[in-house]
Amino acid sequence: MLHTDFSGADARIADDVLAGAQRRAVDAHNLLVSGTGPGNKWLGWRTMLAAPNDALLERLDRLANEIREEADVLVCVGIGGSYLGADAVIAALAPAFRSHGVDVIFAGHHLSGTYLDSLLRHLEGKSVYVNVISKSGTTLEPALAFRVLRGFVERSFDNPEARIVVTTSRDSGALQHLASDKGYRQFVIPDDVGGRFSVLTPVGLLPIAVAGLDIRSLFYGAVSMYTNTGTASATSPQELPAAAAYAARRIALYESGYKTELLATMEPELARLGAWWQQLFGESEGKDGKGLFPAVSTFTTDLHSLGQFIQDGDPTVFESFLIVRNVSDSLTIPETDDNLDGLNYLAGRTFSHVNRAAFEGTREAHSSGTTPVMQIALERRTEEHVGAVIYFFQHAVAVGAYMLGVNPFDQPGVEAYKKGMLSRLKQA
Ligand code: PA5
Repeated sequence: MLHTDFSGADARIADDVLAGAQRRAVDAHNLLVSGTGPGNKWLGWRTMLAAPNDALLERLDRLANEIREEADVLVCVGIGGSYLGADAVIAALAPAFRSHGVDVIFAGHHLSGTYLDSLLRHLEGKSVYVNVISKSGTTLEPALAFRVLRGFVERSFDNPEARIVVTTSRDSGALQHLASDKGYRQFVIPDDVGGRFSVLTPVGLLPIAVAGLDIRSLFYGAVSMYTNTGTASATSPQELPAAAAYAARRIALYESGYKTELLATMEPELARLGAWWQQLFGESEGKDGKGLFPAVSTFTTDLHSLGQFIQDGDPTVFESFLIVRNVSDSLTIPETDDNLDGLNYLAGRTFSHVNRAAFEGTREAHSSGTTPVMQIALERRTEEHVGAVIYFFQHAVAVGAYMLGVNPFDQPGVEAYKKGMLSRLKQA
């Protein structure tokens, strides 16, 4: 389902460093698989794949179908792990431009009143549903946006309670009480699944289903990756699944002085999956003064901005390409009579043919410069393969964090900005 190539990293890592990292990756992988590592009360993202809840998938699909029939727009209100997964999967799989169907729009993922104001104008006269998603139920950004959007729904429709869906934890407090009082439909975020690991719970699955995507294939793509690579313990590096082997290379590169991992994709549709990956890795690893800085690029766009640095800037960056092997595009490059740009030699070729040459040329150029290069390739850009890569990265980040000696599943540092912000707001 996924094809990996770590040779461009192995060539840059000293043999003893790589061997040591691989040995630690075996231990870290086994900690994860046995459920005995730090933060092991947060492994619901694995156990839910071991026992898929088909009834829940059906319930989500039923509501998604209703919303698809009734609504012009679904506004999803959430931030961080309560938004990035749905955004990533929808951007990866739904057509970029659509003339029909429900628009899935995000709100509550920042504090811009200008954005909300413009959104309210956009919603005027349309049939709108709102899905508010917050595990804690108390996060400021979605709570404020939901106040505004709830007011809009209550003013605009006779049946507001039928148009608001709440996705929260069983005991989230305020939001859960509001949902029960008002009779909103509710989905539960399991207690043992942290925000950034929650894309395959109702947090991500309801918006993804409303966007017209097949959540069963997505979920079962992750189940396949979990079953094939995430369940058996390993006795040697050769037995490690690719996700743990990727973790070993990342940490070996980190310990060799490469402090930034650049996830680079050649498909703009995968850029938001990069944003999801960035949160997953940044929040899971970046603690106790440790961790790779996760950066994201879309090529060839960013080759015209970051390409120079990657080629021969400060050699502290390594690159992980996230590519798609089989791109199904049929658009071919037209021939012109005048051939003024001299590009008729490409006439009849697909854009993916040109993009493939760009990838191969870029990989060769960067790896011959200062940058170690790895590659993770999806066979195709489908629900099943995106589900598989979601589990792949979740497994890899847990193994990498255990190798660094940090708990992958907490995020104590995120609280600091909230304290500073709330103390100022309460003083004002
Ligand atoms: O990964 C995480 O836990 C965070 O990014 C949260 O998802 C984010 O802070 C939003 O939290 P909540 O869902 O409680 O509103």
